[in-house]
Amino acid sequence: MAKPASRILVINDEPLVLREFVKGLNAAARSLDNPLGIGFIGVTTAREALAVIARDGDLQAVLVDDTLYTLKNGQQPKSQMSALELVQRITRFRPELDVYILIAREEEDDIVDALFAEAVDGYFYREERDYRGIYRILNAQIQERARTPFYDQLKNYVWMAKDQWHTPGHSSGESLRGSPWVNDFYDFMGEHVFDADLSVSVPMLDSLMEPKGVISEAQAKAAKAFGAKRTFFATNGTSTANKVIFQTLLAPGEKLILDRNCHKSVHHGVVLSGAHPVYLDSTGAEEGAAQCNKASSGCAGAHHHLVHLRRAAL
Ligand SMILES: Cc1ncc(COP(=O)(O)O)c(C=O)c1O
Repeated sequence: MAKPASRILVINDEPLVLREFVKGLNAAARSLDNPLGIGFIGVTTAREALAVIARDGDLQAVLVDDTLYTLKNGQQPKSQMSALELVQRITRFRPELDVYILIAREEEDDIVDALFAEAVDGYFYREERDYRGIYRILNAQIQERARTPFYDQLKNYVWMAKDQWHTPGHSSGESLRGSPWVNDFYDFMGEHVFDADLSVSVPMLDSLMEPKGVISEAQAKAAKAFGAKRTFFATNGTSTANKVIFQTLLAPGEKLILDRNCHKSVHHGVVLSGAHPVYLDSTGAEEGAAQCNKASSGCAGAHHHLVHLRRAAL
């Protein structure tokens, strides 16, 4: 089975210090427990850092030196940016990334205060060169982020459950497995499909209506991963989620600008809300739209960026 790869980017404008840091951190990653395949890479400029952040989906965290491009000789280089500005850009662009800063011990200046105001996730003292300590903390944070509380609980229940006297009524597929007419369906689908098809009848699996346990925990983790304030899980597919969104955002009689090409669940949501769409003719997407009409599902994601929603009074 493919193993995860996780990268952590170190940003420091002193090439020698950077090389030593990346070497020390990678040595720690090799010698300590590393189930998520953490490796460190380094860059010396903000421009390179932003390029890596834009293209590397395996990037989980960044470690920014707070002296980056600050006034070493009284002049800030024009084409480069301060650590503060860089952190702001990183958190705006990839809010899900963990951001750590490297600071001098006992340092309490305006830059550090400003960096903390940007909700950095933690700091390390540069002079300590405590590579194993830094690695341990970053590793623990990334493992925490990779936790799957709902799925773990689902597995626990499936392994533990002996008989199921609750909904859904197929009772782990028992009614299918025992039937000479449909047991081939059970074999085709596989046991876990039925074992794991469970509902709110199992209290330890929490409730979507009023999540207080593993669903609430999983939603909070998903929100952090997406960089959202809150995440709500929904059943009935993306279509229902779209309808929930449009009925929440729009009031009867309001007008909105809508692309004709968006998924039909969006049109349905707008109709249900009682708002009046003003349609935009789609441009540059004719080929995609034609493909979509042929291949009903799976294509909607390809053009969902064409949805333009404005609560404007036109
Ligand atoms: C943007 C968008 N909206 C709606 C849908 C419909 O999703 P579902 O079939 O889960 O209702 C999809 C799925 O492809 C989608 O990508």
